[in-house]
Amino acid sequence: MEKILEVNDLHVSFLTYGGEVKAVRGVSFDLHKGETLAIVGESGCGKSVTASSLMKLIPTPPGKISQGSIKFKDRELVNLSDKQMRKIRGVDISMIFQDPMTALNPTLTIGTQLTEGLKQHRNISNKEAKIKALEMLDLVGIPYPEERLKQYPHQFSGGMRQRIVIAIALICEPDLLIADEPTTALDVTIQAQILELFERIQQETNVAIILITHDLGVVAKVADRIAVMYAGKIIESGTKHELFYEPLHPYTQGLLNSIPRLDKKGEKLEPIDGTPPDLFSPPQGCPFTARCPHAMVACEKVYPPRYQASEEHYGECWLYDERVKKYQSS
Ligand SMILES: Nc1ncnc2c1ncn2[C@@H]1O[C@H](COP(=O)(O)OP(=O)(O)OP(=O)(O)O)[C@@H](O)[C@H]1O
Ligand code: SF4
Ligand SMILES: [Mg+2]
Repeated sequence: MEKILEVNDLHVSFLTYGGEVKAVRGVSFDLHKGETLAIVGESGCGKSVTASSLMKLIPTPPGKISQGSIKFKDRELVNLSDKQMRKIRGVDISMIFQDPMTALNPTLTIGTQLTEGLKQHRNISNKEAKIKALEMLDLVGIPYPEERLKQYPHQFSGGMRQRIVIAIALICEPDLLIADEPTTALDVTIQAQILELFERIQQETNVAIILITHDLGVVAKVADRIAVMYAGKIIESGTKHELFYEPLHPYTQGLLNSIPRLDKKGEKLEPIDGTPPDLFSPPQGCPFTARCPHAMVACEKVYPPRYQASEEHYGECWLYDERVKKYQSS
C-alpha cells in the first residue's frame, strides 16, 4: 500500500516561564493508505502534541517544532506557512477531538456545517453538496438524514454529535484522519458504537487513521499497528498482534497488565506505580527507569538502543541488547 505519511525525528517543545518543556523528543513513524495506527500512552506523554504537530496546530509561541520532518504524500509540511496549511487541513488531513460540542457551531445547522468545507474547497454545486452530506450522514449512521440536515447541534445526543463531527471530517475525502481521544467524553455504550463506526469507515473508505487514546482496550478493536509513547518518545511499535502478544518493553507490559482481560476474569489489575518523568529535564537514560522492575545501571545512564524484533516490531529497552544479555548470563 502507498505510504502517505512519513514522520522523522520530530521534536516539539514549549517555552514556558518554568523552562522548556520537551514534549516530543524524536518521534518517527510512517503510515500507509487505509491503515490505522493507534498511539497510546499515559497522560502527558506527548500524544496530542504529536497529533497537533502533524496539522501544524501547535500554538506558536510557546510551542515550536524544533527539529524533524513531516512528509505527507511526499510533501514536507514542517516549513509550510499557515496559509498553505489551511488548504490541507480538513481537506487532505482532518482531525477530530475529544469533545464533540466544541467542534460544532451551535448557531448553524448540521447541513450548513457539513457542506461548508466541501463548497469552500471543491468546485461543487449546492445540490451535489447536499447529496454528499446525505451520503455522509448515512455512512456515520444517522437516521432520517433529510430532516436531520436542517437541525442544530443541540438537537442531537453526545454520541450523535460525535458522529456528525466524524462526517464533517470525512466529507472532503481526506487521506488522513487524526482522532484524538474521540470516545473519551462519551459513555461506555456510545464509545462502543463510535468504535464500530471506525471499523465501518475502515471498510468503506481508504482513509488512513491515527487514533490517539490512553486506552489499550480501545485499540484492540480497530488498530492495525500500535505505537506506544512514553515521555515524548515512541518506546515500542509493532502490529497489534505483536504488541498484545509479544510486548517487548516493560512499560507496554505494564499497560497491558492494567487493562481488564475478558479471558482472565477476576484477575487483579496492576496499575503501573509512579509517574512519568518531568519533561523540563528528561532523564538522559531510559525515561522509564524509576518505574521499571527490570532497571539496571545502564538504563539510568544511557538511552537504550532500538531492538528490532521483526520488520514492524521494535522496542527501545536495554533488556534486549546483546551485551547486557551476555553480561547477565555470565
Ligand atoms: N501549550 C502548551 N504549553 C506548555 N506545555 C504544553 C502545552 N501543550 C502541551 N504541553 C506539554 O506537553 C506534554 C505533552 O502533552 P500532550 O497533551 O501531548 O499529552 P497527551 O499524551 O496527549 O496526554 P493526555 O492523555 O492527557 O491527553 C505535557 O507535558 C504537556 O504539559
Ligand atoms: S531500558 Fe532498562 S529501565 Fe528502561 S525499560 Fe528497559 S529495562 Fe526498564
Ligand atoms: Mg492528549
